[in-house]
Amino acid sequence: MSNTQIIADSFPALHQTIGDKRLVYLDSAATTQKPQCVIDAITSYYEHDNANIHRGVHTLSMRATKAYENARQSVASLLQASRKEEIIFVRGATEAINLVAQAFARPILSVGDEILITEMEHHSNIVPWQLVCEQTGASLKVAKVNDDGSLNIDSFKELLTKDTTIVAFAHVSNAIGTINPIREMCALAREVGAISVVDGAQAVGHIPVSMSDVDCDFYATSGHKMFGPTGIGCLYGKHALLEEMEPWQGGGDMILSVSFEETTWNNVPFKFEAGTPNIAGAIGLGAAVKWIESFGYDAMVQHEQELLAYGRDVLQSIEGVTLIGASEHNAGVIAFTVAGVHPHDVGTILDHEGVAIRTGNHCAEPLMRRFNLSATCRASISVYNTSKDLDHLGSAVQEAIRMLG
Ligand code: ALA
Repeated sequence: MSNTQIIADSFPALHQTIGDKRLVYLDSAATTQKPQCVIDAITSYYEHDNANIHRGVHTLSMRATKAYENARQSVASLLQASRKEEIIFVRGATEAINLVAQAFARPILSVGDEILITEMEHHSNIVPWQLVCEQTGASLKVAKVNDDGSLNIDSFKELLTKDTTIVAFAHVSNAIGTINPIREMCALAREVGAISVVDGAQAVGHIPVSMSDVDCDFYATSGHKMFGPTGIGCLYGKHALLEEMEPWQGGGDMILSVSFEETTWNNVPFKFEAGTPNIAGAIGLGAAVKWIESFGYDAMVQHEQELLAYGRDVLQSIEGVTLIGASEHNAGVIAFTVAGVHPHDVGTILDHEGVAIRTGNHCAEPLMRRFNLSATCRASISVYNTSKDLDHLGSAVQEAIRMLG
């Protein structure tokens, strides 16, 4: 059995048919499938250790607390954070960015301050900044994207000024897969005294990332895009910044002491984790991190890059197919259009062939507009895919063209 088959075997949801067709899952940018070890970790928590954390003196509570905090340590190690207190559990990257916008940015912004983002951002890295601009009078600036889908670094540099307070950008574009040079971008932000916020939702399930190397101020992740469960993600923040920040939400566990006259905050990271958190989710995410480490990023990158090149060739050889934003540095996303066939129709016909892709604007409407499109088809690759999956994608697209083109 090939290595790829062994990997695919550990993802139970992949082993099914859609009608009478084998499922070909090419929608990992929307969410990755879950390895059995993640499913088992969640089940085992509920079967054996289910209890609330940080509160109980009984055995189950202590076990649950230990498992939850071990998961925090696992994420910190994967991201090479300098300490585990720099990892805050949140619902996902969207919540992480909103937390930074409201708890860090809102108190420091005022009229004249600028927030710099890019044209390739997901709505979750646009709207939280628009909200905070409305609240504070700050303004939003947008760096351009090149025709090949890469960031126009000159435009980024031009828009970075002494007025730039926050710079927020994707590590990897969800819609077209571009990998941005985040180390360089964070260094440029630092030169003008701006704080960097990186949306890493699409990165950590594909490429290694080191907080100490990138030297960003904040980094947001989503568990479900890195083989973990939905409803859990992390915000990495530099410890000194997290210490300075006021809490975002109030409630249990985020306080040291409460009276009607005065309430004092718990230490970082608990200050930002009000209420009972997603304990099972964090434990599942910890298992996903272990799975990524056992697979290894070197093997992951090599496999996905081979498939990306193969998949691009397959689609480019079909008349009427145009690749969108297919830049050189890409984390396994193939965005494309088919002449004369709406992306939603392509997606529906592909589904009849067992092929799952995403179609639409991918929560990146401004990027679609940049390419004069309202929607694209998006096939996104993960470790469990094979070249056979991409052959199947190619024949399903040909079928769509035969039926509707
Ligand atoms: N942000 C997710 C995607 O790109 C849902 O599909």
